[in-house]
Amino acid sequence: MKIEIKRGSPVKLPGNCLVVPMLKHNRLTSIAAEINTASDGVLHQLATKSAFKGEIGATTVFYNLPGIKALRVMLVGIGKKKEIDGKTARKVIEAVMKRLQQEHCTNAAITFPFEETTAEMHYSLIRETALYAENSIYRFDECKSKPSKQTPVDKITLITAGIDNQCAKNAVAHGRAIADGMKLARDLSNLPGNICTPTYLAAKAQKMARKYTKFSSKILNEKEMQKLKMGALLSVSRGSRQAAKLIVMEYKGGNKDQQPVVLVGKGLTFDAGGISLKPPGKMDEMKYDMCGSASVFGALQACAELKLPLNVVGIIPSSENMPDGDANKPGDIVTSMAGLTIEVLNTDAEGRLILCDALTYAERYKPDVVIDIATLTGACIVALGHHTSGLMANNQKLADALIAAGNQAGDKAWQLPLGDEYHKQLESNFADIANIGGPAAGSITAGCFLSRFTEEYTWAHLDIAGTAWQSGKHKGATGRPVPLLLNYLLNKATG
Ligand code: BES
Ligand code: MN
Ligand code: ZN
Repeated sequence: MKIEIKRGSPVKLPGNCLVVPMLKHNRLTSIAAEINTASDGVLHQLATKSAFKGEIGATTVFYNLPGIKALRVMLVGIGKKKEIDGKTARKVIEAVMKRLQQEHCTNAAITFPFEETTAEMHYSLIRETALYAENSIYRFDECKSKPSKQTPVDKITLITAGIDNQCAKNAVAHGRAIADGMKLARDLSNLPGNICTPTYLAAKAQKMARKYTKFSSKILNEKEMQKLKMGALLSVSRGSRQAAKLIVMEYKGGNKDQQPVVLVGKGLTFDAGGISLKPPGKMDEMKYDMCGSASVFGALQACAELKLPLNVVGIIPSSENMPDGDANKPGDIVTSMAGLTIEVLNTDAEGRLILCDALTYAERYKPDVVIDIATLTGACIVALGHHTSGLMANNQKLADALIAAGNQAGDKAWQLPLGDEYHKQLESNFADIANIGGPAAGSITAGCFLSRFTEEYTWAHLDIAGTAWQSGKHKGATGRPVPLLLNYLLNKATG
């Protein structure tokens, strides 16, 4: 989609539709008043005669208004003046995009309630509008023999008259980069397990390294992982015909001596559960067990697109988890790269097994912080549903920064505790640690397991089991938590 900025008056702009914000009870925003005047008061007269009342996300469309060049004017409700924020912008743009599709508009010009908000809010309104305009037209057609017929909106013009031009440009660039990062994450995630294998993800990393400057990738094969003694990771892959890969991507936008942010993403391209086989219902959705890694790809692409002055490393342990004569068996004991022995009491708790070796590998980057992102536990869906990601950390400042970043981006995370009392659940009679902690507090004991491998650095863990994809009629990847990660990195880049 083309997203452009125009600074003049929208009244004389040709096009399919001019989108105009209205306050609750049809109070005119300043921009609506300007357009109303150009229409000789007809716009407001029509609005007051309609059922439209300016509630957040309500829309109504009028054709051929006098004095307005665009074919249609769409009024969209933005609620009360003091409620205008990023969250409102997201709701509003989603409603606008839906209505534009219904009206078969392929382009639109969007105006904003800038006069009604502070200068700091201008950035959010533009960024979230650009981001969710792009995100809302997403379709995954790659595996259909014919693409869908729908003609999506292909051009959005943002009317930014009266505000700081650099601010508007940054907001559009950031919104676009995050949207493209989400699109990449969603595309990789939606691909089926027979296409999106560890080898496929590795090739994608190498492709990105060729495309972007300051970007490199390194792929470790099973032999190289054996040399590093990644016994936990390799044990998960043993039952699979697909070779495991450890995918490393480095984006070097910062100074040479700047310590990197390391993002570790679970890249389980299909999780059948192994010998502790999953029940068949919805098992297809376990192709999404690589959504953590997809968000690392998306975040790194956005860093490269925006040329952020940061060093960011992506580490992706990638494998399948399949039942097989050579697969992990309940009771097997494996030795991790860190030297800790692990009793595999349930082969379906495999995410922590591949992540622990990747987290040990992360030490060599002397990281500023390490954030792992994983579809780790069904228990996280029980605890937080599909709206909020689970967050655990060994450092409160990092946890707070991630929560704040998620709130700003509408990509929320909620912190769960870690602690000795939970670590007890992971005690094993035969090895240093067990890979499951029983039915109670399943997300927390998974976090505790990981924390045994992250003692050398500042670390946070995002459990995205409930937020990375949707089931049912709208089955598909969401692109989360790319917005949270990018907001965190943008905040870091601007100090
Ligand atoms: N990938 C799953 C977690 C998952 C399940 C995410 C359902 C989203 C939806 C993970 O590998 C897993 O199987 N976890 C087990 C852990 C248990 C055996 C301790 C789970 O959550 O059931
Ligand atoms: Mn599993
Ligand atoms: Zn899994």
